[in-house]
Amino acid sequence: MALDLLPIINNPMPRPSIKPPENATKKVHIVTLGCQMNVLDTETMFGLLAREGYAPTDDPAEADLILYNTCSVRENPERKVYGQVGLLKRLKEENPNLIIGICGCMPQSKVERQKIWDQLPHVDLVFGTMNIHRLPELLHQVQETGQRVMEVWDEHGDIVEGLPVMREDKLKAYVTIIYGCDYRCSFCIVPQTRGRQRSRRAGYIIAEVEQLAAEGYKEITLLGQTVDAYGKDLGDGTSLASLLWRLNEIPGIERLRFTTSHPRDITDELIVAMRDADKVCEWLHLPVQSGNNRILKLMGRRYTREQYLALVEKLRSHIPDLTLTTDIIVGFPGETDEEFEDTVSLVEEVQFDGAFTFIYSPRPGTGAPNLPDPIPEEVKRERLQRLIEVQNAITAKRNKALVGTLQEVLVEGKSEKDPSRLTGRTRGNKIVVFHGGDELIGQVVPVRITEARTWTLVGDVEVPAVSRTA
Ligand code: SAH
Ligand code: F3S
Repeated sequence: MALDLLPIINNPMPRPSIKPPENATKKVHIVTLGCQMNVLDTETMFGLLAREGYAPTDDPAEADLILYNTCSVRENPERKVYGQVGLLKRLKEENPNLIIGICGCMPQSKVERQKIWDQLPHVDLVFGTMNIHRLPELLHQVQETGQRVMEVWDEHGDIVEGLPVMREDKLKAYVTIIYGCDYRCSFCIVPQTRGRQRSRRAGYIIAEVEQLAAEGYKEITLLGQTVDAYGKDLGDGTSLASLLWRLNEIPGIERLRFTTSHPRDITDELIVAMRDADKVCEWLHLPVQSGNNRILKLMGRRYTREQYLALVEKLRSHIPDLTLTTDIIVGFPGETDEEFEDTVSLVEEVQFDGAFTFIYSPRPGTGAPNLPDPIPEEVKRERLQRLIEVQNAITAKRNKALVGTLQEVLVEGKSEKDPSRLTGRTRGNKIVVFHGGDELIGQVVPVRITEARTWTLVGDVEVPAVSRTA
């Protein structure tokens, strides 16, 4: 494979891994909403704040700083932020030194940040997704001036490398490889909140993953809104496939995943990497959104039902044990009953392992809210319910088909529900619980699946036969 395609960067700066400060003077509580990008942004903010003497706390009542890292993809979570942050006023009255901030995707909208400013006067700090590295400076401004501070950049500059990060997990780590999105799906606010597509230079990613391996991390999930478009904007031949082959060489790393993929950007080269690079898991999250061509066109998804189905067939012909999950929107403006049925039939035809299903939520500034939408909410809810039932039956069937198989499981720890058992995930990202000693935590072990429950598999560790003559 063309490893030499990746350009060399001299001394790329990896991201310093930060532990909670031992003699922390202050505490920070961060509420994270939305996608994995936000989870990683929160870990970055914890890292930046640790350098300022802040240790994380789960209890908002004992915090000196509370941040809401928000999501704008649908309206409901946005509304909840106003409710929840509104309630924090009481804490601020008890502790006038408490600083409250709102960051993430919501402030990227001019309307929303103004609304936050006007309706939540006890919020001291508002900043956007491209200002995260500025958090320590903004915090100082609030502390020094006692004034409210808002800073939201609408245009991104160069990618800021080398930011510290405090990761929650010890085995699995997220690594962003591409920011933003250049698609303009008519329902989606992400291009507004996360900006244009821009890929990180491969050298930085490799340095980061090498460091994670040295720290004992076993599984890396590469992140991007359209992760499979990685490299397109670099213009130097770098692609997700070439990156995966390079990361596959790093000793200590056991598993590589990537999410989220756009069907248009799955290349043959990528399918080969998924099939042949041993650490790349046979797991793909491939949002389809709808099974009807008219709706797909209105959504601006740039593929047809037939093209999506052909892609799934191709993927499965090369990777027969592929675990495939998806995202689906029901009730897109004007979606008829027949058009919804096309989505149901696609779901039945593809047999996804799982699906995240959503009722369409109009987002300001996107194309779709301008379309006529005569469908009552009630009908949309019924459609969602029906789709969930169809998919749940398929998920159960696909999980049942795994009973009797031997799965490679990365052991994550004790099961929360049943601490007498261990829990981990298969290469297909399915949760498995099984009996075993603590020494297995952090290892990859073979587990024979004995039972399939709705959301989890149950199994037994397969002990390799010991040769007596050895
Ligand atoms: N490519 C992105 C997509 C972000 S949004 C990613 O990394 O996942 C995640 C999912 O939310 C989308 O795939 C879509 O199914 C759903 N979604 C996006 N906008 C929506 C809207 N306006 N209403 C309902 N669901 C939406
Ligand atoms: Fe959103 Fe479509 Fe990009 S769903 S993140 S605009 S690929």
